Amino acid sequence: MTRNILILGGDGIGPETVAEAEKVLGALVSRFGLDVAVDHALVGGAAIDVIGMPLPEETLDKALASDAVLFGAIGGPKWDGIDRALRPERGLLALRSKLGLFANLRPVTAHPALAQASTMKPEVIAGLNIMIVRELTGGIYFGEPRGFVTSANGVREGFNTLRYNVTEIERIARVAFEIAATRRCQVCSVDKANVLEVSELWREVVESVARSYPAITLRHMYVDNAAMQLVRDPKQFDVIVTDNMFGDILSDLASMLGGSIGMLPSASLDAHGRGLYEPIHGSAPDIAGRDLANPLAAILSLAMLLRHSLREHGWAEQVEQAVGAVLDAGLRTADIAGSGGRRIGTREMGDAVVRELLAQAGK
Ligand code: IPM
Ligand code: MG
Repeated sequence: MTRNILILGGDGIGPETVAEAEKVLGALVSRFGLDVAVDHALVGGAAIDVIGMPLPEETLDKALASDAVLFGAIGGPKWDGIDRALRPERGLLALRSKLGLFANLRPVTAHPALAQASTMKPEVIAGLNIMIVRELTGGIYFGEPRGFVTSANGVREGFNTLRYNVTEIERIARVAFEIAATRRCQVCSVDKANVLEVSELWREVVESVARSYPAITLRHMYVDNAAMQLVRDPKQFDVIVTDNMFGDILSDLASMLGGSIGMLPSASLDAHGRGLYEPIHGSAPDIAGRDLANPLAAILSLAMLLRHSLREHGWAEQVEQAVGAVLDAGLRTADIAGSGGRRIGTREMGDAVVRELLAQAGK
């Protein structure tokens, strides 16, 4: 059965990095007979420029009809001035919400060859392997009411609402426990239960879900402490589960442990295996279009797509191994050049991964 993949390049370095992932996918199709059909559509600023909105209906329809979405990045200074409701970021948030992508998986690993590229001491990060499970369709990002008001004395106020119900907490907790069961069986739930009622509920519900997973060790940590512990001793973590905004912040922090944000993929999943896969690096407009961006996060996002939505575990591993081999061979884009090796551009990096993939399979 042919599986449908929608590719949304978006803005900034999005299109050029997903193009390299598409090259890798193309090799799997043409050289190894993987049965997928690829389509493209506009999102973010690119869609605003052409259609006037960040998530055109056609794009949403195509995404709803696909088995998985491979996403680049969105946003940039060009669209910063426009109305909040029409910003590029809204396109991504609407996609997450409309596709029901409540579970965001952000793996953080430190490839040994990149230890020198990290600002951390090599012994602190060697062997690092954390999975951040971020709730993605609730919390303060989506909570109502929200908006601006002017009080009786004429002072303007902006406000948002942080709320979670039991069902939302239960399902993200379950995802975290299931993943932990395939790893080192430890879950750290991150909240702010010393201050927030919503965190108190979060803790209670995570505890109750934990009762169905006796093999998993659960602990709780306040978010400020978690930020500190991630820098002090990141290897103490296996799976971290947390809410939408805490996960946003902690995942950027954690991304630098491994050396470069340019290396990290992510998966955003619904309840049935459909997913949106994106590098977490964002649109980086300052280096866009200059063949400087690191495409490995996009290629590793493709590996996650193969694993989680297409259930092609073998190919997912092959792609990850090819990325590892290219790094071992000393090939480096600018962001990871601090670790030595030979400096190459975006396209050459994509070509190198394809070559490695073919070599692994003896082609
Ligand atoms: C992320 C990004 C997004 C978020 C932005 C672009 C809306 O920072 O995926 O982490 O805040 O979720
Ligand atoms: Mg973020």
